Amino acid sequence: MTTRYRVEYALKTHRRDQFIEWIKGLLAVPFVLLSQPTNIHEDDKPGVAAMAANAHERYAQIMVDVEALIADHITHQNKPGQPTSKLKLLVPSIGNFFTPLPLADAFKWQDSRRHISSRRFVAPSFNDVRLILNSAQVMSLVRSSRLELVTFDGDVTLYDDGDSLTPENPVISRILDLIKNGARIGIVTAAGYTEAEKYYQRLYGLLDALADAGVEAHKLVVMGGESNFCFTFDPSEASKLRSVPLEEWQLPEMKTWTEENITALLDVAESALRSCVTYLNLPVSVLRKTRAVGIYPPAGVRLAREQLEETVLVTQRILELSDAGKRIPFCAFNGGNDIFVDIGDKSWGVMACQRYFGGIDGGRSLHVGDQFLSAGANDFKARLAATTAWIANPAETVSLLDEIGDLLNEK
Ligand code: IMP
Ligand code: MG
Repeated sequence: MTTRYRVEYALKTHRRDQFIEWIKGLLAVPFVLLSQPTNIHEDDKPGVAAMAANAHERYAQIMVDVEALIADHITHQNKPGQPTSKLKLLVPSIGNFFTPLPLADAFKWQDSRRHISSRRFVAPSFNDVRLILNSAQVMSLVRSSRLELVTFDGDVTLYDDGDSLTPENPVISRILDLIKNGARIGIVTAAGYTEAEKYYQRLYGLLDALADAGVEAHKLVVMGGESNFCFTFDPSEASKLRSVPLEEWQLPEMKTWTEENITALLDVAESALRSCVTYLNLPVSVLRKTRAVGIYPPAGVRLAREQLEETVLVTQRILELSDAGKRIPFCAFNGGNDIFVDIGDKSWGVMACQRYFGGIDGGRSLHVGDQFLSAGANDFKARLAATTAWIANPAETVSLLDEIGDLLNEK
């Protein structure tokens, strides 16, 4: 049963990140050769320490080599007509990098925390590699003084799914520190509301703290519905937010997002969702909004992972094949216990924040989010617009911001 399950799991490419899996595979070789699972007794401390030192050196060397492959890839990317990079041959789904990544340094730092090299039974894991990549990304940005904009996803990144950003949230003081260091902040969330008051209800802990700390207006924006509703921080407003006129944030390409194209896309999305509701017999309601359509179950009911994934993948496919889906960008995603199709996606949301703050480029901008699998995940597209960090829960966001704080203090 286990093997059969594993085979099926492996077939689901939408549940894998090929770059992380590839690095994990490279690290597995020294793990298999060097780890000493038979040597578990306290009386061989020197042997265990030698194994850890040896494994550390070998893992670090792999990271040096991957670092060089990324540097080479950067010289090839965005140059049509140039031969493909070696990294692209090895990992065909690899995208573009905005900055080099100091992976060896980041590995050493994470190893000092997670003691990856000392493990005898558990090989370097997906999460180890994901966190090493995050550390490398923030090291690269901070050391080159390029952290000008930090955008955050909302649910699961800043607070638990469906919660609000309340005053005791430990992320607040860290975001204040970023602002004090000169960075601009964006909250790029799928949650789509037209009124500032609704965002205040979700984010009041942070917004009140910024006002109390005397932060000036316009240091933070909220981009709702992925890339549809833009509000700027303004302490003089009761909701601490003010709607930003379209001409101050919209990108020229968004001119094609006409009411006609939006309605056509949401009509196709709604009918795709409704057909999934019927054939999977889902216990959900359908919610049509101005820039989104979604399905959600009644309070207390949880949808199965398989139901959520099937619905997202079917809806996405139907939209991709439709005329309406070719006219404007959209994002179909699994929100944990609901599914939404939004107009636009987070690449547009992040780019609109970059534009609002005067034209910050992708190599000076970091997006932090929890949804980075290739299908049914809404932070994934942010990779087209900025450097990214992939966190698994709000506590990891706090750790990442502490890492950034330490790096800023080192300067
Ligand atoms: P995020 O993680 O901050 O991007 O928020 C995603 C969640 O926001 C979804 O799972 C939904 O529960 C909720 N949501 C509320 N309104 C919308 C909408 O218009 N589009 C997509 N998600 C929405
Ligand atoms: Mg999220």
